[in-house]
Amino acid sequence: MKISVVGCGKVGSAVAYTALLKGLTDDIVLVDASCDKARGEALDILQCRAFAPQAKVRQGEMPDTAGSDIVIITAGIPRKADEPRVLLLSRNAALIGDIARKAVQYSPNCILFMITNPLDVMTQLAFKVSGLPRERVIGMGTVLDTSRYRSCLARDFGADARDIDAYVIGEHGETMVPVTTGINVRGIPLEQWPGFCPETLERTVKEVIAASGQVIALKGGTVFAPAASACAVLEALVRDSNAVLPVCTFQEDLGVCVSLPTIVNRAGAKQVLSLPISADEASRFAKSVDNIRTYVNDLAEYL
Ligand code: 2OP
Repeated sequence: MKISVVGCGKVGSAVAYTALLKGLTDDIVLVDASCDKARGEALDILQCRAFAPQAKVRQGEMPDTAGSDIVIITAGIPRKADEPRVLLLSRNAALIGDIARKAVQYSPNCILFMITNPLDVMTQLAFKVSGLPRERVIGMGTVLDTSRYRSCLARDFGADARDIDAYVIGEHGETMVPVTTGINVRGIPLEQWPGFCPETLERTVKEVIAASGQVIALKGGTVFAPAASACAVLEALVRDSNAVLPVCTFQEDLGVCVSLPTIVNRAGAKQVLSLPISADEASRFAKSVDNIRTYVNDLAEYL
């Protein structure tokens, strides 16, 4: 399985490293505007070989990505703690459009996996310029926010995060919707979980929406949670697992790329599922979609 990572900043290199340790690829190409940076990351990862699954890891240019099964795009300028992700649109759009076009030129059968912010808008840009079918252009979307939600719920209610069924849907941004309807721990409704308290749940929801800003303010950027979330998606793609993940894909009926629970397997984002949500959550999801649509309209000049 050949995976190329375009953009070897903190997140791109952490994704490559985690994917290698998890044995998700035996062939990784790292591409970055700074060849030295990509070469350095490739060497560093290569030097784990004595303790990791065997894989080819090398620095390359876009032509070296040819024949990739998955091209991960993390290139672009990251956000600062006090910036909304959408501010990055004008900074990143031209670059991402160019990378997506080239990625498909060299790997026409690839799956494009988008991580650059503003995530939903960049996924839509990649979908439009690549000409790939919708199931093969996937944004990390609220898989990351869902990881944060489950992790915080686990801490706040004393449960195993891996047992918790809870989703964040909508924009990977300020209008995301952490869904409280139907949260359960291995089938037990959260309301029946020992020590459940609605005020705690309300606090958890607020914390999740602000979570990345908190980390960025403290350490300059988010790295480990994005890398783990990206690898959850890669794992579903590589192992053909039919995992249900809230990835971001183009929704024909809405006209935008947005995150909803989706079956993910080797073919990509196979099928979007309908999540039971309250009327209030549905209305907040609709507002989140409207927000993405506003920014998508600004994309015209980059298509
Ligand atoms: C995150 O949520 C910055 O979008 C990135 O960690």
